[in-house]
Amino acid sequence: MKEKIIILDTTLRDGEQALQASLNANEKMQIALALERMGVDIIEAGFPISSPGDFKSIQSISKVLKKSKICSLARCLFKDIDIAAQAMKYAQNFRIHLFLGTSNLHVSSKLKKNFNEIIDMATSSIIQAKRYTNDVEFSCEDAGRTSIDNLCSIIEAVIEAGATTVNIPDTVGYTTPTQFKNIIFSIFNRVKNIHKIIISVHCHNDLGMAVGNSISAVEAGARQIEGTMNGLGERAGNTALEEVIMALNVHRDVLNKYTNINLKEIYKTSKIVSQFCNMPISANKAIVGKNAFSHSSGIHQDGVLKNRENYEIIDPISIGLNHCKLNLTSRSGRAAVKHHMQKMGYRKNDYNLNELYVDFLKLADKKGQIFDYDLEALAFFKKQQNLREYFKLEYFDVQSKLSGLSVASIILMCGTEINIQKATTSNGPVDAIYQALNKATLYSIVLKKFHLVANGEGKDALGKVDIVVQYKSRNFHGIGLATDIIEASAQAMVNVLNYIWKSTQVDKELEKLCK
Ligand code: KIV
Ligand code: ZN
Repeated sequence: MKEKIIILDTTLRDGEQALQASLNANEKMQIALALERMGVDIIEAGFPISSPGDFKSIQSISKVLKKSKICSLARCLFKDIDIAAQAMKYAQNFRIHLFLGTSNLHVSSKLKKNFNEIIDMATSSIIQAKRYTNDVEFSCEDAGRTSIDNLCSIIEAVIEAGATTVNIPDTVGYTTPTQFKNIIFSIFNRVKNIHKIIISVHCHNDLGMAVGNSISAVEAGARQIEGTMNGLGERAGNTALEEVIMALNVHRDVLNKYTNINLKEIYKTSKIVSQFCNMPISANKAIVGKNAFSHSSGIHQDGVLKNRENYEIIDPISIGLNHCKLNLTSRSGRAAVKHHMQKMGYRKNDYNLNELYVDFLKLADKKGQIFDYDLEALAFFKKQQNLREYFKLEYFDVQSKLSGLSVASIILMCGTEINIQKATTSNGPVDAIYQALNKATLYSIVLKKFHLVANGEGKDALGKVDIVVQYKSRNFHGIGLATDIIEASAQAMVNVLNYIWKSTQVDKELEKLCK
C-alpha cells in the first residue's frame, strides 16, 4: 500500500512575503482557487496579524475553499493565535500554524530567551490554539541548525501539548540531503510520542537543495511537504511544489508514496502564480520552464521523434502542457474561442468568455491571427487589468522625436469625471504619458521598475509592460498589454493607479471597521 504525502502550499504566505509588490485580495483568491483545483491538501493563506489586508483576504478565502483546508500562520503569541482563529472562523475546519525559533542563534540573539522559556512559550501557545481547532501545526524555526537534543525535547513537549503536525523547517536552506535525512531519522528514533503526529518538512533553497532535502525527508518518514509554486519564497525560495510532486510521481514505485495532486493542473497553476506574482519563470526551470520539454540538438530531436521517452522522463501532457497551435481570426466565433481555451486546459469558470471574446475580436482585427499565448494573455492579464477600473484611459496622443521633447495629451476618466492633461518631457514618450497621468490623479508615486517584454513571437507579439511603483511606502504592481508598446505602458500605469485607488478605499473601510 502506498502512503499519502500531504501537500501544504505556502505560496500565499512564504511566497508572497518575497514579492516586490504584495498581491491584492482578488489575486490571492484566484491563486487559492487554482491551488484547490490542483488538489493541494492545505493552503497556508497568510499571516493575519501582519496586516489588515492579509486578515481580510484570509477571511474571504476561508469562505470559499471546499476541498483544501485553510491554514494561517501565527507567532507563539496569544494575540496572533486569536486573530488567526478569527480570520478563519468561516471555514468548515482550519489549521493554526505556530512557529518559534529553536536554534541557539534564534533563541539567544533573536528571541533573547533560554530554551526552557522557548518550550513554555510553544506549549502554552499550542494549548491556546487548541481552544479554536484540533488541527495545530508547530514549526521549529531554523530546525536545520538546531541541536538534535533540543529539537527532540521541544518536539516531545509540543506533541504532549497537543500539536498534530510538527514541521521541521530548514529555514535558511543550510542542510544537505543526507544531513536533513539524518535529522528526520533521529527525530523518529528518539522522540517517544512521535507516532501520534505527522512530521512535516519545509525547506528553503539557499544551496539549491530544497527539493532534494524534502525527498530525503520523505525517505526518512516525513509525511507532509511544504512548498510554493515555482519555488517562490524568501531569498532563494522554498521547495518548488511542481518539482517535488513530479519527483514523488516519477519515483512513486520506489518511494511507495502518492499525493492527491491533479497533475494536469500543474502547468496552469504555475502560470497563474507566475503572472499574478509578476515572477517570470526561467526558461530552463524544471517541469514548468519554457525549455523543460524542448529539444535542441539534432541527436536529441531525432531520438524524441523515434520515441519521446529517449529524452523525456515526463510526458508534458500529464502536467497539462498542451502545445496547441491555434488558427483563430476575427472570423472565428465564440464557440471556437471556447473550444481552444478548453484544449489548452482551461475550464469555463477560469475566465469570462463574453469579456474574452470581445477582447479577442479587437485584437484579431489588429493582429490578423491569434495564438494560444494571445488568448491566455487576454484571459488573464486583461482580467487583472480590468479588475480595478476607477480610472480609464479614453484617449492619448504622444509625439516623440530624435533629440527633442516628447509631448503627451491624455483624456482620463476618473470615475464619471473627464480629466484632460498634457505633459512635456525630454525623457521620452513613456515618461511624457506617465507625467500626464500623474497630473490627472495627483498621486505622488515613484516608478521603481519598468519591464517591457514581447508576449509571443516575432512581429505577431503583444507588448507586455510590468511596472512597480511606490506610493506611501507601499509597492504596487501593474500590467499593460497591447499591440502598441506606448499604449501597453500607459495601461500598466492606469492599472497601478486603479490599484492604488482601490487600496485607499479598502484602507478607509478598514479604518471604519477598526473604530
Ligand atoms: O522558513 C521557515 O522557517 C518558515 C516557518 C514560519 C515555517 O517559513
Ligand atoms: Zn519558510
